[in-house]
Amino acid sequence: MELVKSQQLLSKIATNDKHGENSPYFDGWKAYERNPFHPTKNPQGVIQMGLAENQLCFDLIEEWIRNNPKSSICTPEGVHQFRNIANFQDYHGLQEFRNAMANFMSKVRGGRVRFDPDRILMSGGATGANELIMFCLADPGDAFMIPTPFYPGFVRDLCWRTGVQLIPVHCDSSNNFKITREALEVAYKKAKEDNINVKGLIITNPSNPLGTTLEKDTLKSLVSFINEKSIHLVCDEIYAATMFSSPTFVSVSELIQEMEDCNRDLIHVIYSLSKDMGFPGFRIGIVYSFNDQVVNCGRKMSSFGLVSSQTQHMLASMLSDEKFVTKFLSQNQTRLKKRHEKFSKGLEEVNITQLPSNAGLFCWMNLKSLLEETTFEAELKLWHVIIHEVKLNVSPGSSFNCSEPGWFRVCFANMDDEAVDVALSRIRAFVGKETKKPVALKRWQENLRLSFSSRRLDETVISPHSSIPKSPLVPAT
Ligand SMILES: Cc1ncc(COP(=O)(O)O)c(C=O)c1O
Repeated sequence: MELVKSQQLLSKIATNDKHGENSPYFDGWKAYERNPFHPTKNPQGVIQMGLAENQLCFDLIEEWIRNNPKSSICTPEGVHQFRNIANFQDYHGLQEFRNAMANFMSKVRGGRVRFDPDRILMSGGATGANELIMFCLADPGDAFMIPTPFYPGFVRDLCWRTGVQLIPVHCDSSNNFKITREALEVAYKKAKEDNINVKGLIITNPSNPLGTTLEKDTLKSLVSFINEKSIHLVCDEIYAATMFSSPTFVSVSELIQEMEDCNRDLIHVIYSLSKDMGFPGFRIGIVYSFNDQVVNCGRKMSSFGLVSSQTQHMLASMLSDEKFVTKFLSQNQTRLKKRHEKFSKGLEEVNITQLPSNAGLFCWMNLKSLLEETTFEAELKLWHVIIHEVKLNVSPGSSFNCSEPGWFRVCFANMDDEAVDVALSRIRAFVGKETKKPVALKRWQENLRLSFSSRRLDETVISPHSSIPKSPLVPAT
């Protein structure tokens, strides 16, 4: 009764559940929030490994801020700029911010491509930028194709308010989740048969959750595909600088310089400073479109999600500091590499394999051998044990719409080394128990006092949502 009433009072968007947040991906965050790990205050708490945040280089940013008090309007050195900046609300953004952003985007891509500051549109993080580009390219009911597995937030960002639907392009581990021309054709053909208007293909490169970059040839084949079908290609490059190993990341913006036949009106890049600089709170999202009409219309839409002028002002200054940016990017890579190696080694020691990766803030971990059976139900069951007993918030593959059970994404850059040690010790103890193999004790296992009960837990006890989340996807075979 209450539900019916609120559905009459509120809009369809407010009362539908197409935000996609009813998923273990978000439930895991809630479990963490209820009982967050702290090394001394709550050592038995849940360790947050479901959050793709980069906290490895905050010291460098803090040092820069201390050395550059003029860049803030909230310091005696910078307050003379206060009135100008506080008043500024032009949806084009501060010219110096767009210039600095364009240069930074180029630097991140090895200087192999230049960006035009006049094509840079602002939005509230990549979240807002992805929605903005959907509003520009698609009408309610239209569809975007998307390779699986993909970032769970896309359901909210791309679909919820726009009414756009997603068509999965199924990729699997038989070829390390490569996007093949065949898979694209199958998904496209099925959508056409179902009378769905396909407006484009969206990819994340480097990939979340895979932590891999697209090979140049694969990217080329995607660009050819969308050109042949005359549909858009949106490339979310939010992890462009979050690289720790070869091969080098190739941006679509770089590739199309070599592809003379490419219709550039179809190409759009999404960017953000949430991952590469570790600033998710600043909400700096960018749409970079090669299409003039999209730039025009998107600029007006920027009004809904402007980056605060105070933030623009400070970042214009920080990103224009070439010396600092060079050092930051290089240190970021070094520290990521080290952290990835540390975490991977820990997994290797207990024979947990992962997809070989070269980018991102996470590993795509293969726990198939720990499933009771090869089903998504078994995957969720294992996930419940990991979150409630091992007390690690990792994210199950089903929440990324992975087509194969047993994969889990585990983030490793949002914590300090000590927390990684505790997480690894918990993994060792858990895997040791599951496989009945004795686990060699390590120094850091002193912290480990968790006890694991039987995996055959009562569903009603273990689950806030005891069934597999409903897929928001349009099924395609
Ligand atoms: C692929 C991808 N796109 C977009 C986002 C959203 O980023 P932002 O914090 O900039 O809104 C994320 C965040 O995890 C992401 O992984």
